[in-house]
Amino acid sequence: MPGIVVVGTQWGDEGKGRITDLLASQADMVVRYQGGDNAGHTVVLDGVKFKLHLIPSGILYPNVMCVIANGVVINPEVLIEELTNLENKGVSTKNLRISCNAHLVMPYHIVLDKAGEYRLGKSKIGTTHKGIGPAYADKAARSGIRTQDLLDLKIFRTKLEEILKFKNAVIEKVYELEPLDLEVIFNKYKDYADIIGKYIVDTSFLINKSLDENKRVLFEGAQGTLLDIDHGTYPYVTSSSTISGGVCVGAGVGPGRLDEVIGVAKAYTTRVGSGPFPTEEVSKIGDYLREKGFEYGTTTGRPRRCGWFDSVILRYSAMINSLDSIAITKLDVLSGLDSIKICVGYKYKDHVFYDLPPHQSIIHKCEPIYQELKGWNRDISSLKSFKDLPEETQNYINRIEELVKVPVSMISVGAERSQIIIKDEALKQRLFERHMRSTLIV
Ligand code: IMP
Repeated sequence: MPGIVVVGTQWGDEGKGRITDLLASQADMVVRYQGGDNAGHTVVLDGVKFKLHLIPSGILYPNVMCVIANGVVINPEVLIEELTNLENKGVSTKNLRISCNAHLVMPYHIVLDKAGEYRLGKSKIGTTHKGIGPAYADKAARSGIRTQDLLDLKIFRTKLEEILKFKNAVIEKVYELEPLDLEVIFNKYKDYADIIGKYIVDTSFLINKSLDENKRVLFEGAQGTLLDIDHGTYPYVTSSSTISGGVCVGAGVGPGRLDEVIGVAKAYTTRVGSGPFPTEEVSKIGDYLREKGFEYGTTTGRPRRCGWFDSVILRYSAMINSLDSIAITKLDVLSGLDSIKICVGYKYKDHVFYDLPPHQSIIHKCEPIYQELKGWNRDISSLKSFKDLPEETQNYINRIEELVKVPVSMISVGAERSQIIIKDEALKQRLFERHMRSTLIV
């Protein structure tokens, strides 16, 4: 089974990094296929912390090829910071490859992202201010600048001159801000080209070749299904295809090459930024989850909105992504609660919805219908197998499986690598018969 996809099933921050790290220990190649430095996780290797936003965490394994594919938008400044940090800490970056077709995040994208959010005021999306939306907008408008343009600075300059005229007009006339200087941007990006030029190739050939050779390729999703540009809670979404189908477009592989799709779901739900969130708890329980689960953004430090597990959105994610299994993360955060709620449906006026309602206003205004399950008081963080978990914990997982109609394959009960219980024995055999390399993702 060479093509394995890991996707977020909620609104991002599900703990995908933990699961991809575990699977990367068994992979030959790890591929990022969408998003940009709006994503992020911290990796701990032998006590040393690495903050990664663009480079797949597989880079910490000496024999794993790491690919930033065409679907990603790259801020070269952030990328170079990550490269430098890795090299300074003794991690080789020789196995990194960057797609020649990936688009660049430019300084005007960041200015326009921030200014656009400011203009929206109360209706703002709550973006990460990393220029992601404007970069994808330029890509779709066919006025984006790609990494391959860095390899021919004459072309790069011509494109930059052309687009900057228009961007500066918007920056000055619409937002009444200072225009950006062409020479400053050009010189910066010229320097970036010197550093990252050597990593730029057509990654779709590389990825397909690896799959042809039956190597294990892990496609690492960023953000989550409900933040998908097409299938998420639009307009409160990011600007890329965060779902499993996004792999095909964002990495240049056909659908038949994806053998296994693992959806990552937190044992409760969180969201950063604006937008509907039916099971949100603006209450003591929400605060409890935030503090116990340390729910603060890796990229922006913003406190995350917290609430109960929502099986309606998970069923939707299971459908949209064709999930083969679910990895449940942070189950230990729920330990100590007397009772735990699971949302089984939504009520809106006289209607009950078991599937995601078709209209955004309904998702905004609906009331969650909860089933209440008995909690567990035991510390589960050192338990190694599903059958060791308290009966109540097993009931919670079993209920999730019943409601979502997808088996749970993995459960994380703590931040360390050893604290992931692999519930699905067949998956364990399929994926983990190789030697485990050791890192820790938080
Ligand atoms: P953008 O991707 O910066 O444009 O932000 C759009 C929406 O996606 C905002 O609600 C962000 O909070 C959310 N978002 C973007 N990246 C992440 C992520 O990695 N985790 C969680 N939410 C994210």
